Parts: sequence; structure tokens; C-alpha cells
Amino acid sequence: MANCQPTLCLSLSLLLLLLCSKPVNSQQPQANISLGSSLAAGASQDYWLSPSGDFAFGFQQVTGGGRGNSFLLAIWFNRIPQRTVVWSANRNELVPDGSTIKTGSTVKLTKDGSLMLADPSGRQVWGPNGVGPGVSYGVLYDTGNFVLTDRKGVVLWGSFDQPTDTILPTQIMKKGNKRCTEVISKYSSTNYSTGRFKFMFQTDGNLVAYTTFYPQTVRNYAYWASATKSTGNSVTFNESGSVFLSSDNGTILLYVFTNQEPTQDLHQRLTIDHDGVIRLYAYPKQSSTSAGRRWPAEWTALSFTPADICGLMRADTGSGACGFNSYCQIEDAQFPNCKCPNGYKFLDPSDESRGCLKTFPPQDCSSSAGEEDGQFDLVEMVNTIFPSGDYEYYQSISEDMCRDLCLSDCLCDAVTYESASCWKKRAPLTNGYMDQENTGKTLLKIRRQNSTYSTAGERKKNDQSRKLMATAGWVLLGSSVFVNLMFIVGSCPWRKKNRRMNRVGDESDEAMESANLQRFTYREMESATGGFKQVLGSGASGTVYKGVLGERAGELVAVKVLDNMPERDGHDVREFATEVKIIGGTNHKNLVKLVGYCNEGQHLLLVYEFMSNGSLADSLFGGGEGTFPRPNWYTRTQIAYSVARGLVYLHDECSTQIIHCDIKPQNILLDQGMTARISDFGISKLMKTDQTRTTTAIRGTKGYLAPEWFRNVPVTAKVDVHSFGIVLLELVCCRKSFLLDFEKEEEMVLVDWAYDCYSRGKLYKLVEKDEDAMEDLKKVERFVKVALWCIQEDPSLRPGMKKVVHMLEGAVLVSEPPDPSSFMSAI
Ligand SMILES: *[C@@H]1O[C@H](CO)[C@@H](O)[C@H](O)[C@H]1NC(C)=O
Ligand SMILES: *[C@@H]1O[C@H](CO)[C@@H](O)[C@H](O)[C@H]1NC(C)=O
Ligand SMILES: *[C@@H]1O[C@H](CO)[C@@H](O)[C@H](O)[C@H]1NC(C)=O
Ligand SMILES: *[C@@H]1O[C@H](CO)[C@@H](O)[C@H](O)[C@H]1NC(C)=O
Ligand SMILES: *[C@@H]1O[C@H](CO)[C@@H](O)[C@H](O)[C@H]1NC(C)=O
Repeated sequence: MANCQPTLCLSLSLLLLLLCSKPVNSQQPQANISLGSSLAAGASQDYWLSPSGDFAFGFQQVTGGGRGNSFLLAIWFNRIPQRTVVWSANRNELVPDGSTIKTGSTVKLTKDGSLMLADPSGRQVWGPNGVGPGVSYGVLYDTGNFVLTDRKGVVLWGSFDQPTDTILPTQIMKKGNKRCTEVISKYSSTNYSTGRFKFMFQTDGNLVAYTTFYPQTVRNYAYWASATKSTGNSVTFNESGSVFLSSDNGTILLYVFTNQEPTQDLHQRLTIDHDGVIRLYAYPKQSSTSAGRRWPAEWTALSFTPADICGLMRADTGSGACGFNSYCQIEDAQFPNCKCPNGYKFLDPSDESRGCLKTFPPQDCSSSAGEEDGQFDLVEMVNTIFPSGDYEYYQSISEDMCRDLCLSDCLCDAVTYESASCWKKRAPLTNGYMDQENTGKTLLKIRRQNSTYSTAGERKKNDQSRKLMATAGWVLLGSSVFVNLMFIVGSCPWRKKNRRMNRVGDESDEAMESANLQRFTYREMESATGGFKQVLGSGASGTVYKGVLGERAGELVAVKVLDNMPERDGHDVREFATEVKIIGGTNHKNLVKLVGYCNEGQHLLLVYEFMSNGSLADSLFGGGEGTFPRPNWYTRTQIAYSVARGLVYLHDECSTQIIHCDIKPQNILLDQGMTARISDFGISKLMKTDQTRTTTAIRGTKGYLAPEWFRNVPVTAKVDVHSFGIVLLELVCCRKSFLLDFEKEEEMVLVDWAYDCYSRGKLYKLVEKDEDAMEDLKKVERFVKVALWCIQEDPSLRPGMKKVVHMLEGAVLVSEPPDPSSFMSAI
């Protein structure tokens, strides 16, 4: 427990004490504990009771630890058989008993008013932090709060000020209070020492659950947060079983738990359990029937959060929800189970959080070549992934190759394979979890016990894998990149040209014929574009020229030339085929239509309908003058609807789900009627509809990229939702998501500025110069709220595009969005 210097705390403590403790309830008969009283640790089971008898303060015997009888100075529920401990003084230093009060450990409220836990030698093991002078007596209230008060009954210290792993009804956590701000889990269900999880009410107003750098209690990785940054002022657990965060004026900002059932017949507690889950427990006070419900004679979790602790652990270090080398699975809806993979066993079966060990000798890298060949197998762990701790990564690779890369690498302990991507891992494996929703699997290397079989010769034929290694390497970057919006650079992994390729295959032609598109010669294209003179735009995948199709009655077209290069490589062909296949197969009024193509020698060209009003970027950021005037508010709302509907089509209505991956104003074109049409599917990813999640290389443009691109987490259609959210804000505000303007620093990052204006009720600031929008502030607010939902850092919080359309149209209510950045900055 943190010790603060008495001199520092004295002045503060008097002020702060009252904030965390319930004031004296004068109606209740108080059993006073007078100065000079003491209790001894031992078989006699001495304790002080609260007036109702619900709670007791004294010594609880703890088994284990291998030191005979060990005692915990604790407060517990005394009317239930389990004697559940809700508070303890010496969780990390148990004390022994003795044959007499003189030889055993004691807790004493001394004549001079200090509370002291001493071991048999008389050494102080524990004392409360920062108690003011003038303690007159102690009281154990019926709330479970043990307090020291002065003569007038003013509380000088309370056990509620120094919680361990549990919060009780009426206990309040308050911002700025140095006490009662963090709650740390037990080590295990039977071991009371500090564990690996905690939740804390931070000075920034955010309630956050963290893993710790165990055995230190310093916070490591935030896996749950209330996102009430700057607005949260206190966390209340009231007698009706509701846990909520309020602002300083008392407005309830967020319910952590709500409870509808009557609670007068229930004992309750809020505990962060040794598995990291925060649970609200109830236990019937009298009979097993209460409030028309049969209660088992045990603690029942009424609510808990987070629901999926196994999948939330993404820290770079630490063992996550389970120990190293084990994996986490939620089987009975609320309790995560830690399991050892095949070929591994628990290091300590009585303490699963210590992780798993190999049951076989590890591969010996120093043994002469080939000696260990064929001694290992990969066992398949379906729906199981280890999201962190990779040391090598490959993309566009078959599962066989992925297997081979691990088997032929003596350092490799496992590979996670998902959507043609392969991640090599070394033991100890961390943060593993199994979930039916995981589309990936892990192949774990284990020794074939008695095998003499060798596959050395067989492996040679898979030599391509080595070639593949040369081209792979688009390793996912650290998340810090996300914050750095200043470097807006287009990136497109398909552009990597470091491999010579064989001749162009026929796959692209086949794809195009099936899409029923017109085929042009290069010469035709050259004349249509007047020798590729008028550039309409250029992007990561090529340059677009304006053209006229003579034989089609002068129809205007946009011709996209995929980068001309001396030798065409497989990536380009594949990209070409992909784009053609995708666009050729789509047909929606909010998508740009493909008219035809040209595939001749080195020339790969795509011919689209011409969009006479340019791109959204041209008109939105064009300064209001020039060729493309700035669209008015009404038109901008229509553009928002159109883009959203186009995305609904791509995500939900095509036979194969299409994730665009690069939604931005440059890729949204406007036709003659100012209808928005989504273009440039060049870097889209074609997904089968049953593959709901995938992890892949980074695609898209910074500034619009969803944060999950930078994390080693699956990328879904929600990345488009994120980009759409940014575009929506740009549409509302008629400005770029990032402006380098140091005079208006708070406006530089649009997302922050928008949330700021929204949370301070000053949305009009976003559209001040736009009369139409100023008269339509309701819709402005709705659009901004939708945008804020779209850009939530947690993809699961972002709505799907269908819901986005409904929300934009006002068909469903839009609830208050949390601060899109609060989760990150809490870390
Ligand atoms: C507890 O002690 C205080 C101060 O000495 C006294 O005023 C109060 O009556 C006592 N209560 C009981 C129930 O003895
Ligand atoms: C509780 O766990 C800690 C950490 O593993 C250990 O040091 C301690 O001895 C355990 N205590 C008991 C009573 O088992
Ligand atoms: C506890 O909070 C809930 C939700 O705000 C409220 O309905 C209930 O009345 C409160 N109970 C008490 C005892 O204040
Ligand atoms: C209380 O504060 C919140 C924001 O913290 C604000 O939205 C609300 O209007 C305030 N309520 C009152 C009654 O002042
Ligand atoms: C491998 O050897 C062990 C011990 O020598 C034996 O118990 C086991 O049955 C053998 N397994 C196989 C598959 O032969």
C-alpha cells in the first residue's frame, strides 16, 4: 500500500476524508471501539461487529502460503457462511497467530489514538495512511466502513478511503481525491495479495481498468474505460445497486451498472475479480427467495464488464487475461477460462495465471543441420489467435507456406494464420484467446514424441517460401503513428515493385470478359485522350486522364492508366484484375461505373464514365472559386447520404463484401446532378461474406485511416465507417481534417475541434460562415454526432453503414457519442 508522508497528508486529509466516507448516521446505535481496545490473531476469532451484525472487523485466517496459520486483518460480511472479505489491511503481508495475546499478532487502537497492526515481535505491519490527530474512538458502520473519529464524531479516516478489491454501496470515488481512487484485484480466488488488474478513477475524470506491471501495481494496459474524460467527477455505488459516473453538477453521465431489482434484502458488492472483470455481486440477506426470485446461497453476479475480457488484451508486455503460453476462452458466458494448448501443461496447476510450459524439449537451434528436422509437428488451434508478440510477418501466402516457414525455422514456436497472412511467434506466447468469431487460427509447434521420420527432402521442394520472404515485410506499425496526422502520405502496398514477374497471365482478361465490358486498344485510348494530355487527377494506383469516345457519340470518359512500368509484375496484374472484377460486377447509382478496359502489353487502362463536377475534394477544399464552386449545405447533406448509401451497397449488398479501404474526398466524384459517386476501388479488398474479420496490410490514406490499421487487430468494414466519419465532418465544416494553422491551434485537428464544440454545446462554431447550415443546426448536430460515432477508436462502437444511413436520415435517434479520443489519451 502506498505510504504517504504524514506531514504531507495532514492538511489534505481533513478536507478529503469526508469526501470518501459516509457521514455519521446518528440514528443508528453505534458500538464504539474505545481507545486501548485490541484484537488478537488466533483461534479465538475475536472481532468487532457493526451494529446490525452485517459486517465484522478483525482477523481472518488464510490458508496457503506455506507458513502455517496466516492471518489477514480484514472486514467481511459476517452473516453469510462464506465470510466474504471486502477490505483488508495486510493483503501482501499476512501475520502469524500465537498461543497468547502476548505472543500473537494484534491490532490495537492505542491510547494515543492510532490504529496499529503488529506482528508478534511488536513490529508495525500496517497502519492507516494520513489520520489526523485527535482520534477519540473507532466505529464499524453497517455500510462496512471502519472509521476513526474525533470526539465530535468527525471521521478522520475510514477503510472506504483505502479500498482493496471491493467497493460497497454508499462508497464514492471522487475526482481530485487522493483517497479511494483505485481498486486492485486479488491475486486469485483464494489468495488476497495484489493481483494483475485494477480500476482507477483518474484525475482526468475517466474511470479506467488496467492490467498492471505485475508484481508492481503501476498501470500497464487500459482494457476498459468509461470515456468520461474531463466531465466525470465522481463514481457512485448507491444502495439500489446502481453504479454511475456523475459530473460536478450531479448530472449522471454514464451508468456502469444499473439495477432494477429491489435491493433491501440483498448484500451487494462491486469487485474487480482476479480475472480482471468488474462484477456487481448480490447475496440474499435472509431467505433464498427475494424479490420474486430464487437466490442461490452464493454470490450471484448481477452485472459485469467487460463482456469479452479475453479479446481485449493487446498489451505489448505482460501476460494479459491468462498466463504466458496459455489461451483464454469464455465458456459459460461470464467467466474466462485459461487453458494450455496441446503439448503444454500448467506450470503450477494450483495457479493457472502462472501460465503453461512445454511438455517437450524445445527445438535445438545449435544442433547440426537437419538433426532436428522432422521432429516437430504443427497442431492446429482453430479460432484461436495470439494477437501480439510477432517477430516476422508475411502476407499473401498460403497456409502450407506459412506452416513451412515455421517448421523450417528453429526459433519459431507458433504461427497465427488468417486471411492469407502469417505471423511468426516465439514463446512465451501472450494474449491468446479463442473465440468463434476469430477467423484466424494458430499452428503451434510441438515435438513428435517418438518420431524418427524426416521430411528434410520434402521441405526442399517448398523453396518458393524463401522467395516470398524477400517480398513480404509490410509489417504493421506501432499505434503512435495514428496520433501523427501531420504527415499525410498516400500508401499502397500493392505498389511495391521489388519482384520481377513472369508474363502477364490471362486471369485479368477472363475477369473482364465475365463482367461484360468493352475492350479497347491502346491506340484507341491514345486518340480518345488526345495523347494523354488532360490530367484529371492522380493517386496511388495511377493517373486519370480525360477522354472522348469517338465511336460512342462523343461520350466523355475518364481513363485511368495504371502506372506504366518497364516490366509488369504480378501485383499490378492482380490489382488490375481485382479492380475490374469488383467494379465490373457492381451497379449502384452512387458508384462510378466502369465502361471498359485496355490490356495490351505493358498497358493497363480502365475506362470510367466521366464525372463532370470533379471530386469532392476539388469543390470542398477548392476555396470556393474556380471550376468547382463550393456545394451549399443542402447539396452537402445529399452528398453525405449518397456516399453512405454507396458504402451500404459495397458492405452489405454485393455478393462479396467489398471494403473500399480508401474513402476520402479525392475518391468521391460528383456527376452532373451533383450526385456523389464513389470511385477508385484499386486498393479495395475483396472479401467473402462469411469472412467477417481479417487482418491485413495497411492500405488507405493517413488522416482517414482507422486506428486499427496500426494495431495488430483485424480490419473490417468498420475502417470505411471511420473514414466516412472524417469525410462527414469535412462535409459539415467545409474544411480538411487537418489544417496547419498555428493561430487557431484548437481548430487544427478537425476531429478534436468538432468534439470540443459538440461537448461544449457550441456546434454553431463549426458552421459559422455558412448561413444555410446555421439555420439547420439540428441537422448539423445530428451529422456531427453520427460522425463522432463513426470515428470511435473501438471499431465495435462504430455503427454499421446501414445504421449510419438511418441515423443521418433521422430515422433512428442518435445517442450521445463518447469522446472519440478519450480511450487513447487515458492510456
Ligand atoms: C460513542 O462515543 C461518543 C464519544 O465518546 C459518545 O458521544 C457516544 O455516545 C458513544 N456512543 C455509544 C453508542 O456508546
Ligand atoms: C499469493 O500469491 C503470491 C504471488 O504468487 C505469493 O507470493 C503468495 O505466497 C501467495 N499467498 C498465499 C497465501 O498463497
Ligand atoms: C440509485 O441510483 C438509481 C439510478 O440513478 C436511482 O434510480 C435510485 O433511486 C438510486 N437509489 C438511491 C437509494 O439513491
Ligand atoms: C451539468 O453539466 C453537464 C456537463 O458536465 C451539462 O451537460 C449539464 O447541462 C449540466 N446541468 C446543469 C443542471 O447545470
Ligand atoms: C512415445 O514414448 C512414450 C515413452 O517412451 C510412450 O509412453 C508413448 O506411448 C510413445 N508414443 C507413441 C505415439 O509411440
